[in-house]
Amino acid sequence: MKQALFLITLALLSALLTGGPSICQSGDITVQLPDPDIEGSLTLEECLTARRSCREFGDRAMTLQEVSQILWAAQGITADWGARTAPSAGGLFPIRLFLAVENVDGLDNGAWEYLPDSHSLRQSVEGDLLQDLATAAVSQDWMATGSAMLVISAIPEITEARYRDRSMRYIDAEVGAICQNVYLMCETLGLGTTAVGAMNDEDAADIVGTSNTVRLLMPLGPIVEE
Ligand SMILES: Cc1cc2nc3c(=O)[nH]c(=O)nc-3n(C[C@H](O)[C@H](O)[C@H](O)COP(=O)(O)O)c2cc1C
Repeated sequence: MKQALFLITLALLSALLTGGPSICQSGDITVQLPDPDIEGSLTLEECLTARRSCREFGDRAMTLQEVSQILWAAQGITADWGARTAPSAGGLFPIRLFLAVENVDGLDNGAWEYLPDSHSLRQSVEGDLLQDLATAAVSQDWMATGSAMLVISAIPEITEARYRDRSMRYIDAEVGAICQNVYLMCETLGLGTTAVGAMNDEDAADIVGTSNTVRLLMPLGPIVEE
């Protein structure tokens, strides 16, 4: 009994002293995303014409529906055998997406892994992470002013098992396709984003609680109306 009390006190003290983001037990909290709406308001041609990188964001919170649309555009499953919105070399699907959240209605702040099979999210880290990610991205502080940030990572071994030394080029081609899907979806939703490649990959991975290889960051938030 005394030992249990001592351990609980130690855990509480450690939580109080460390304060910052904490890694969750895997599978602790999951959130089901609403179904994606597949009837957009703009044509593909209009999205392609309007697409632009955005580094300034408005204050409103993003909605869970917007998160659903963006993650579906990035890696949503669109065929019975598992094919997705973006192509993948050999249909191996090595990409793993994390969403760092700071201002989304219905989601606690922290990092969430996207689970394409169930179109849901599972929390991996709790806390405010956008400034830490911006700092890892060579202190591009504007990145912390969005509502959320997409972290595109990969498990290279999945592709390497078949494609050996051609794997990273295949993986980065997949990341590029996903990135463009996200840009175009943001356009239809009135959201802004920018592909960010300048970063310390290991720091970015640590911040969202993964050992995957991080390839690209995409801050997300409402565009500022002129
Ligand atoms: C692979 C890649 C990496 C990029 N990295 C950064 C970055 O670290 N910081 C940044 O502000 N923009 C970054 N960008 C965005 C480019 O600067 C931007 O796409 C370019 O200026 C063209 O502008 P547009 O996207 O508005 O057409 C990156 C774009 C790509 C494709």
